[in-house]
Amino acid sequence: MATTEQRVAIVTGAARGIGAATAVRLAAEGRAVAVLDLAADAALETVERITAAGGTAVAVGCDVSDSDAVREAVARVAETLGPPRILVNNAGVLRDNLLFKMSDADWDTVMSVHLRGAFLMSRACQAHMVEAGFGRIVSLSSSSALGNRGQANYAAAKAGLQGFTKTLAIELGPFGITANAVAPGFIVTDMTAQTAERMRVDFDEFQRARAETIPVRRVGRPEDVADAIAFFTGEAAGFVSGQVLYVAGGPLD
Ligand SMILES: NC(=O)c1ccc[n+]([C@@H]2O[C@H](COP(=O)([O-])OP(=O)(O)OC[C@H]3O[C@@H](n4cnc5c(N)ncnc54)[C@H](O)[C@@H]3O)[C@@H](O)[C@H]2O)c1
Repeated sequence: MATTEQRVAIVTGAARGIGAATAVRLAAEGRAVAVLDLAADAALETVERITAAGGTAVAVGCDVSDSDAVREAVARVAETLGPPRILVNNAGVLRDNLLFKMSDADWDTVMSVHLRGAFLMSRACQAHMVEAGFGRIVSLSSSSALGNRGQANYAAAKAGLQGFTKTLAIELGPFGITANAVAPGFIVTDMTAQTAERMRVDFDEFQRARAETIPVRRVGRPEDVADAIAFFTGEAAGFVSGQVLYVAGGPLD
């Protein structure tokens, strides 16, 4: 297997936050990256960061919960960049609410983006990976998989992704494909800013308070997560599969 081959990676939800940092990180390692997000325009900033640094990237507009859109997007990536060998299921949304106030739509939206999205993307990409006898799938779980007030939908989806990951590891392992999950704790992104806003707390104050509860005494950055994802997607991680790595500045139960 040629380790110098430029492998094609798809990172979903890569217009900003953890997805953008991951796309930039994988491109720096020589991957050609499809920067996928709801609107291609929104993904252009990440593409520009990558190309300005001498990397290769394209913007792809796609709703990961839409089966036809996913099929078309993956086919387009295969045509323009080459068949995907790395997939990072990162796209995500929050619809936080206490159970008694959680609407059907709050539940369904979170399940659609996180679980259905990871399923559709993984199913579309595995065909290319099986053909190559090589693949790396990394899905974003969360420390919320262990339970978090106001996040019955999100916690269920993120715990579900851990079972999904372990099953892919078993089914796809014989074809040279690994599947792993990265479960971040508190990472500074628009998503956590949105949580602070919902709780009517100043975001800087929110970060300071959270940092005090984290053993390494700081909140996480998107790059902290991108580094862990880069490990799982690397050639050297071929014997590591079905794992969940908490990237949270300390141990979690
Ligand atoms: N920020 C954290 O503290 C944290 C902690 C644990 C897990 N995570 C997970 O990490 C991932 C990235 O989180 P983030 O904080 O960078 O979030 P973010 O809100 O900053 O970015 C999410 C991206 O996903 C995109 N997206 C949403 N729905 C989509 C869809 N249907 N199709 C395609 N793209 C879609 C958004 O447009 C956005 O660009 C998510 O899965 C999130 O649940 C985040």
